Amino acid sequence: MEPVNVGLLGLGTVGGGTVTVLKRNASEIARRAGRGIVITHAAARDIHSKRKINLDGIKLTADGFAVVNDPQVQVVVELIGGDTIARELVLQAIQNGKHVVTANKALIAKHGNELFALAQQRGVMIAFEAAVAGGIPIIKTLREGLAGNRIEWLAGIINGTGNFILSEMRSKGRDFHDVLKEAQHLGYAEADPTFDVEGIDAAHKLTILAAIAFGIPLQFSKVYTEGITRISADDIRYAEELGYRIKHLGIAKHHDKGIELRVHPTLIPESRLIANVDGVMNAVVVKGDAVGPTLFYGAGAGAEPTASAVVADLVDVVRALTTDPENRVPHLAFQADALVNAPILPMRHVETTYYLRLKAQDRIGVLADVTRILSEQGINIEAILQKEPAVPGSDVHIILLTHRVLEKHMDEAIARIEALESITDDVMRLRVETLS
Ligand code: HSE
Repeated sequence: MEPVNVGLLGLGTVGGGTVTVLKRNASEIARRAGRGIVITHAAARDIHSKRKINLDGIKLTADGFAVVNDPQVQVVVELIGGDTIARELVLQAIQNGKHVVTANKALIAKHGNELFALAQQRGVMIAFEAAVAGGIPIIKTLREGLAGNRIEWLAGIINGTGNFILSEMRSKGRDFHDVLKEAQHLGYAEADPTFDVEGIDAAHKLTILAAIAFGIPLQFSKVYTEGITRISADDIRYAEELGYRIKHLGIAKHHDKGIELRVHPTLIPESRLIANVDGVMNAVVVKGDAVGPTLFYGAGAGAEPTASAVVADLVDVVRALTTDPENRVPHLAFQADALVNAPILPMRHVETTYYLRLKAQDRIGVLADVTRILSEQGINIEAILQKEPAVPGSDVHIILLTHRVLEKHMDEAIARIEALESITDDVMRLRVETLS
């Protein structure tokens, strides 16, 4: 049987990895797919730049439209990123009746509803395993492996760069910016690294995971998003003293009254497996009603781990080329006409436990004022730490762990604590999850 011709958009870190993996494992891949899969046409911003990959047999162009309009190309792999030119190219590929494989989480999270509707009309597939958690097959797992479950919640370390930074800060006391530079050098970070450290990349991925887990439309704009830039070495140390690790998590929970969608730094008990996932590794815990808690772990970024997911999608697409569109696995796991518009809960209605770090004058009555405010807001304290001042007479850090409370009550308590004269800085608030 003739091989399937693939057009590749983007020859960066993941594009290069995809070329390499497809060539190196060509015979294993053909045995699985039933026919060969070859890249015949590729577009790159700079076609003359020196690359360490073998591009033999691949026609190179600087024009992505030449690839998506190439009548020989049957499947387009989009690895450009962003949601401007990538969106136009993917729309054109679908219009041309070509299947699409993409690693582009921003594109799927923000425009997936539109793209899937068009793909369905045109009878083509859009596969996006590589968009979430790099090499971990979490999309396939949620969409197929856990299809018998009602998913109750999921929580994941889904940004490798952020996890790399937090891990290095904790284990080696390294500086935030220094570690970020290394992540960029290693090809983990996004083109705009604020997407990693401000939580936007994780929010893109959580949007996709939640849609597939709960059968809801993609709703990126409703994800509460907080990054890791405010985390200090002090917070990491105090969390450890209390028996916790700080991890940047994407969390989605299904309640009767609605769905929680939130990305933020989170204290997790250090005994949890996911609390010990370090470096660029990702991990996702999924709780299904039948299976119970499950944990998926692997490299969340990098050339070949992400290429592993891209190539798996190519194999899936090639296997399904001869199936009728209505017999394929739906893009968002649930049939398109069976998605439900469950409400997304605003943060003030989310209930969780909290870590608070206060900077206070070292004098009588400060702690009494703070605990009075918390008790008036109905907030129960689980633990308190007061650190010695660095210099006698200077301000002290007070660390509190609370019981569960609605975020709106915590917001009111924090506003009142910050208004106290004895509190000399903004209160640092981090959410705590036991994931049990
Ligand atoms: N910048 C992303 C990360 C790449 O660090 O996880 C993989 O999506």
